[in-house]
Amino acid sequence: MDIKIRKASPLKIKTSCMVIGVCEKSFSKPLLKELDQKLGGLVRKAQRSGEFSAKVDEQILFQPAGHLPAERVLLVGLGPAEEITAEKVRRAAGQAIQLVAEKKFGQMALALPDSIKGNLFATLVEAAAEGLLLASYRYDQFLDEKIKALRKLPKTVALVIDAEEDQKSSEAAVAKAQMLCQAVFLTRDLVNTPGNIKSPDFLAEQARAAADKSTLTCKVLGKQELAREGCGALLGVAQGSAREPRLIILQHNGGRKGQAPVALVGKGVTFDSGGISLKPAEKMDEMKMDMGGGAAVIGTMLAASLLALPVNLVGIIPAAENMPSATAYRPGDILTSLSGQTIEVLNTDAEGRLILADALTYAKRYQPKLVIDLATLTGACIIALGHHATAVLGNDQKLVQSLLNAGEKSGERLWQLPLWDDYDQLIKSNVADVKNTGGRPAGTITAAAFLKKFANDFRWAHLDIAGTAWRDQDRPYIPKGGTGVGVRLLIEFLRDLAATE
Ligand code: BES
Ligand code: MN
Ligand code: ZN
Repeated sequence: MDIKIRKASPLKIKTSCMVIGVCEKSFSKPLLKELDQKLGGLVRKAQRSGEFSAKVDEQILFQPAGHLPAERVLLVGLGPAEEITAEKVRRAAGQAIQLVAEKKFGQMALALPDSIKGNLFATLVEAAAEGLLLASYRYDQFLDEKIKALRKLPKTVALVIDAEEDQKSSEAAVAKAQMLCQAVFLTRDLVNTPGNIKSPDFLAEQARAAADKSTLTCKVLGKQELAREGCGALLGVAQGSAREPRLIILQHNGGRKGQAPVALVGKGVTFDSGGISLKPAEKMDEMKMDMGGGAAVIGTMLAASLLALPVNLVGIIPAAENMPSATAYRPGDILTSLSGQTIEVLNTDAEGRLILADALTYAKRYQPKLVIDLATLTGACIIALGHHATAVLGNDQKLVQSLLNAGEKSGERLWQLPLWDDYDQLIKSNVADVKNTGGRPAGTITAAAFLKKFANDFRWAHLDIAGTAWRDQDRPYIPKGGTGVGVRLLIEFLRDLAATE
């Protein structure tokens, strides 16, 4: 789907559906007054009756029957003008295109409230484009043409602006949204890919393909090299699977030469059966999403390259499949990690922290300025925060705060959990330096406390995306399945970092 900027009045555009964003209490503005006249007072009437007062998530569809060039007019509510945010615009645009696609209107144009000016306008144009694109995504490569035809997306959507001077910045904003969403789609595709196709090697090949079509460089370590390096934790998790593990390394050199990179580390468990500590059958299928952190890192790296972000980045993805078998690692095993620290495995289903331990240690050799890891790490995170927030924990409050801010702006919200040293005693082992589970209390925190032992040489934050990487219900601009969470968050964070350096 293409998005074009068009300078015109929304009331003069010929299209099958003209979507107009409306703020509360703005019904006396010239555009809405004129629209109301053309529709014989229906807009006012809807406002008075409470059917449409432009609250967030409200929509109303009119058929102007020849009184306007557009066949239909869809008003979408954006709430109070002074409280408008990028997230509200994303939602409204997503909901609008959802309706247009389901009803097969064929064409669509969208206009933002004309009272918004300057920088905010460009930000909201970008958000509108994001909402349109993100909502139009489907994972349908294995579906019949007939099923695909139940929804018909417009080929192009016109974003309508009323000021000539906004043309250039609006076009740039749309171009950015297109690049960003292309990367989000890659992340969603990778998460949605089933486990029979998605081996650690498949993930590595996909990272390589992303590097081939961008300026990224890609390096992949195989089993032999991992053994030579001493990645005993990653190898331990992988040893039950017929598929060999990989350590995938992507680099983006957009910053000054020699400038310390930001390292992004993503859990890449391509399928998590639990291993010998086997998971129950119910919803085990969803554990193909256990590489959501790794997919977010690949997507973020691609986006950074396409957007030419002026920062140096290294993305590190430990990839393995966690399976039960005669060669699988067992509860009670002691693994020696790349850091030299020994780990007692009490539960083979707590595998994510093991492979991340080696990846975090590996990150050290890039002398990173800071490290952020993303992982679908704990079921406990879903108990704590549900599906509405990613948990963030770390050893540097400034870094955590910047991530929290990026979460608000991107709509990929975070909530901080404490990481006091008090929790360390829960993962003390009698026979090794650390054990891989801390029991039921504070499961998300003890997982992070485990990672902290491998992250004490740098500023570090951990994002537990167990509740946010996968959804089994549609949302305004996020269809069910892999959400692509992390990409927009990290790009927002990195843009901010680049701007303040
Ligand atoms: N991948 C899971 C966590 C998970 C669960 C992600 C549900 C998304 C949805 C992780 O590897 C895991 O199994 N964690 C265990 C840890 C426990 C054994 C300490 C868990 O959360 O039960
Ligand atoms: Mn597990
Ligand atoms: Zn897992």
